[in-house]
Amino acid sequence: MNKLSLRAAVIGATGYTGQEVMRLLRRHPRLRVAYATSESSAGTAVPGHALRYVQSGAVPFDAVDIVFTCLPTGASGAVALRAHAAGACVVDLSADLRHGAGGAVYGLTELRRPALRQAKLVANPGCYPTGIVLALAPLLRAGVVDAARATIIDAASGVTGAGRTAKRELLYAEVAEDYRAYGVGNTHRHVPEIARELSAENGGVRPPFVFTPHLLPVRRGILETIYVPLAAGADAATLREEARAAYGEEAFVEVLAAGLPSLGDVVGTNRVVMGFADVVDSGAPLALAIVAFDNLLKGAAGQAVQNANVMLGACEREGLAA
Ligand SMILES: NC(=O)c1ccc[n+]([C@@H]2O[C@H](COP(=O)([O-])OP(=O)(O)OC[C@H]3O[C@@H](n4cnc5c(N)ncnc54)[C@H](OP(=O)(O)O)[C@@H]3O)[C@@H](O)[C@H]2O)c1
Repeated sequence: MNKLSLRAAVIGATGYTGQEVMRLLRRHPRLRVAYATSESSAGTAVPGHALRYVQSGAVPFDAVDIVFTCLPTGASGAVALRAHAAGACVVDLSADLRHGAGGAVYGLTELRRPALRQAKLVANPGCYPTGIVLALAPLLRAGVVDAARATIIDAASGVTGAGRTAKRELLYAEVAEDYRAYGVGNTHRHVPEIARELSAENGGVRPPFVFTPHLLPVRRGILETIYVPLAAGADAATLREEARAAYGEEAFVEVLAAGLPSLGDVVGTNRVVMGFADVVDSGAPLALAIVAFDNLLKGAAGQAVQNANVMLGACEREGLAA
């Protein structure tokens, strides 16, 4: 990154992820928000920034260095492609470009750094896939997962994971003091993304898995409990060793030497923390991987800023200190 101050545009700056990008950029040493968009609040002051919201159509994409598109899936990708065509570097937080549309590089930073360094257009990963793929990638690569049995993934997300748009099933009275599964039977929209990324880490072969998301009545955070069928000779210590070998040098991935993570360890940070445990008396060799991270940070805005830092040649940790 050669310029001291780069101009950023945040598209959809009133949403949960957009607000979080705005918050991170306020303390970023090199990125300065030049445009923040909202269709519904255009003309009003942006909290914490000396700016007013503008409509996304009013942003001169040829006059900014980096664009974060934080719109709903279905609306976001087209704006990202328009910004990219105008010459800006772009990180799209939606699912629109995650299958590679427009040549977008998949932005799971720790696994895709060489491609990200060359990228001008990045598709930021889904929140649930971020933790699942980070935990399972080194295990699949090392061949310590028994590919003949399904890996079971139970994941719970805080309510901000569903975005800020009002929905009856997300009213306080509907979610408070309750806990429920949704998108069961591998029907959640993240399943194809998880399948594609796990296959890529498993020599092109899709490992069998079942993914069940749950809605947890907290504001933010994701905890994923992954039941890993073990290949002969492996145990939880083997999994821990492989994960530590993969992430020992990483600033934002922590593999616990002992114990298991909880949401309290990660909410408000860009960190993914994972721990491993043996399972006794399960009838077949099995271990647990428990993964925790903040859906709005490593699951969205934090990873987006991390990717922007890599794309722009900055230090990856800039603006992301816990
Ligand atoms: N929430 C998460 O944990 C999470 C994690 C990973 C990825 N993502 C993805 O990140 C994207 C943003 O998610 P979010 O949770 O921040 O959503 P959100 O809270 O619903 O915010 C969406 C933003 O887009 C604007 N908007 C809504 N409809 C629009 C439309 N049709 N055209 C243009 N602007 C529109 C909204 O504000 P105005 O009405 O003010 O314009 C708001 O600024 C989504 O694609 C989501 O899938 C979210």
